[in-house]
Amino acid sequence: MTKTNSIIFYFIVVFMLILLNFQVSDESEFIVVRSKAGLTCVPKDLPLETTTLDVSQNYISELQTSDIVSLSKLRILIMSYNRIQYLDISVFKFSTELEYLDLSHNKLEVISCHPTVNFKHLDLSFNAFDALPICKEFGNMPQLKFLGLSAIQLQKSSMQPIAHLNISKVLLVLGDNYGEKEDPESLQDFSIENLHIVFPMKKEFRFMLDVSVSTAVSLELSNIKCVVDDIECFYFLSALAKLRKNRRLSNLTLNNVETTWNSFIAILQLIWYTPVEYFSVSNVKLQGQLAFRNFDYSDTSLKALSIYQVVTDVFSFPQSNIYRIFSNMNIQNFTVSGTRMIHMLCPSQVSPFLYLDFSNNLLTDMVFTSCGSLTKLKTLSLQMNQLKELAKIILMTKEMTSLQKLDISQNSLRYGDDENSCSWAKSLLILNMSSNTLTGSVFRCLPPRVKVLDLHNNKITNIPKDITHLQALQELNVASNSLTDLPGCGAFSSLSVLVIDHNSVSHPSADFFQTCQKISSIAAGNNPFRCTCELREFVKKIGQVSREVVEGWPDSYKCDYPDSSKGTPLQDFHMSPLSCNTVLLTVTIGVTMLVLAATVAFLCLYFDLPWYLRMLCQWTQTRRRARNIPLEELQRNLQFHAFISYSSHDSAWVKSELLPNLEKDDIRICLHERNFVPGKSIVENIINFIEKSHKSIFVLSPHFVQSEWCHYELYFAHHNLFHEGSDNLILILLEPIPQYSIPSSYHKLKTLMARRTYLEWPMEKKEINHTQG
Ligand SMILES: *[C@@H]1O[C@H](CO)[C@@H](O)[C@H](O)[C@H]1NC(C)=O
Ligand SMILES: *[C@@H]1O[C@H](CO)[C@@H](O)[C@H](O)[C@H]1NC(C)=O
Repeated sequence: MTKTNSIIFYFIVVFMLILLNFQVSDESEFIVVRSKAGLTCVPKDLPLETTTLDVSQNYISELQTSDIVSLSKLRILIMSYNRIQYLDISVFKFSTELEYLDLSHNKLEVISCHPTVNFKHLDLSFNAFDALPICKEFGNMPQLKFLGLSAIQLQKSSMQPIAHLNISKVLLVLGDNYGEKEDPESLQDFSIENLHIVFPMKKEFRFMLDVSVSTAVSLELSNIKCVVDDIECFYFLSALAKLRKNRRLSNLTLNNVETTWNSFIAILQLIWYTPVEYFSVSNVKLQGQLAFRNFDYSDTSLKALSIYQVVTDVFSFPQSNIYRIFSNMNIQNFTVSGTRMIHMLCPSQVSPFLYLDFSNNLLTDMVFTSCGSLTKLKTLSLQMNQLKELAKIILMTKEMTSLQKLDISQNSLRYGDDENSCSWAKSLLILNMSSNTLTGSVFRCLPPRVKVLDLHNNKITNIPKDITHLQALQELNVASNSLTDLPGCGAFSSLSVLVIDHNSVSHPSADFFQTCQKISSIAAGNNPFRCTCELREFVKKIGQVSREVVEGWPDSYKCDYPDSSKGTPLQDFHMSPLSCNTVLLTVTIGVTMLVLAATVAFLCLYFDLPWYLRMLCQWTQTRRRARNIPLEELQRNLQFHAFISYSSHDSAWVKSELLPNLEKDDIRICLHERNFVPGKSIVENIINFIEKSHKSIFVLSPHFVQSEWCHYELYFAHHNLFHEGSDNLILILLEPIPQYSIPSSYHKLKTLMARRTYLEWPMEKKEINHTQG
């Protein structure tokens, strides 16, 4: 097979595999995906080399040995979201390679055990088991890394078989009916690093379960509901309190929490006393108001607190208590995001905050005004808030003397031309002001040492000339603005990355690459390029720099103007040097004109061009006239029997020999010497008389050949208007004409002489008379 053939073959194979929903990722992987295919049983037509089979989200209700026995290479089987009620683990007895089995979100009630399996990942969560589906054989799976379980009853004894395994993650889903008979100690013997317990949804947290597992580093608890205020989340707080003894625990995550403000702060306070370092809580629904006063920050291990997505049912109540508690936290990282929080107070003393993320809230320009206690802060994100005046934010940073990174993107920030104080924190290195309503005037006040500046999606139409010089600036993103040209690097001497796509750059200046020597990446695509001469230089320069430097080349760089080349890639845009160089163009036109003039002058001088033209003109006129006159009328106009054309050298013979002989027979003859009308041009006369004569007689001789006039007469006679095609020419050869003496341009005469029989003088004198009669 040739190389091309094998490539084509390869493509066909790949294409067919895609069609059949198979994917080949590497030699040892063969993935078959048949999810959401409406299947009611495992398909029978699976390729034997299948290593991964995904039949999730179908209606499969049974799994049998015969379904998978032939798939000897099967390693991964995903059957989540089906309707399987019963599982006999012995169906996998021949699947020796199987190490990943996902049977979550089925209707499993029972499994029957079998010793021959060795899974690394076994997910039986979100099923309908009563008791934990743990076989004693699971204890022989030393490789088990993930185990997903579900039950409505927990018993310490049921954990026993796997207690000695070092499972890195266990997901334990407690069914809706969990909690009737609890064994609070049931998790105590587990040896797990990461435990995720999902409590029943919509059920008040009244559980006794001890969630503190001594080996756990990370604990995640989902579905915590305690809204009955009189017990103040007692059960859950008791569960959290037990975490204190759990010295290894470092990460705690709570999901889907529904409680009161008071309980929420109580939870926070409790966690302050645990060994937890990273606490994250998301999807929180809070009720009521906060009556809580004091928060004890002392003696905590906590480093980072993250609160995501909070909704409250009461919208306006005094919140300063909450802000006070938050702002004085003695932790390094603090995130409050997606919470409709409208304000945050300045910490009352120098705060250990290093990282604050308050994105996606309702904070205003008032936040942290004149706040001198955030001097350690390095990163601040106020992305997606209600900030309006950049001047106030600039002032805010003034006292944040360690601030390196500020994200104020996705606000409505504006900056007027008349602002005069420019007090950015000098320490700022990364500034994100994208998606605001800033104009070019923002360039008049920027942090002097900034390295990365993101200004994409603003309202910048130009970068003013008198801007602050940013010697350290390396990355500038001004995409999606209305800039009309590339900024030079005069003010940004270190610039190495420029993003300026989706602007109004129509003819970027080519000297960009000269001034910006350090550029290592430029993205300037999706601009309305005017494909005219001015752009040539730029396209040439882009062609010279390496491909990696120009992002999106060539696909995103297209002509927008002129209409004829709209959509043409800049790469294919070429203009001839001539059409773009005015000097060259002028010279070329001038030279062409000169040559033309010289040619015309030459033709006039040597070939009497004007005469030719006049003659041609008259002939065409006459011809047109003749077309309009009916044939009969023209014939009525005939005055002569014959028109004689001859050279003046032969006039003696014509007058003494030919004329007397013809006229004696009453033949009316037209001679130019005799009949031509004075005052009319010769050509007009010739045409006129040839028209008025039945026949044209030509006296051929070497002189005739020499005479140009005679040649015209022959020409006109041959093309006679109303005798065309008829036999109206008579040629008399007075003296023999050697073929070579006929000039080559007289091809008419040559063809006539070759085609027609002519009369030779003097032998056929009688014949002439006869013909003319
Ligand atoms: C704080 O957050 C930053 C950014 O996410 C991270 O790099 C840093 O490790 C965090 N520090 C702590 C103590 O969590
Ligand atoms: C600035 O923030 C936007 C989101 O608002 C993000 O997409 C962008 O990557 C950020 N820029 C930098 C330089 O981090």
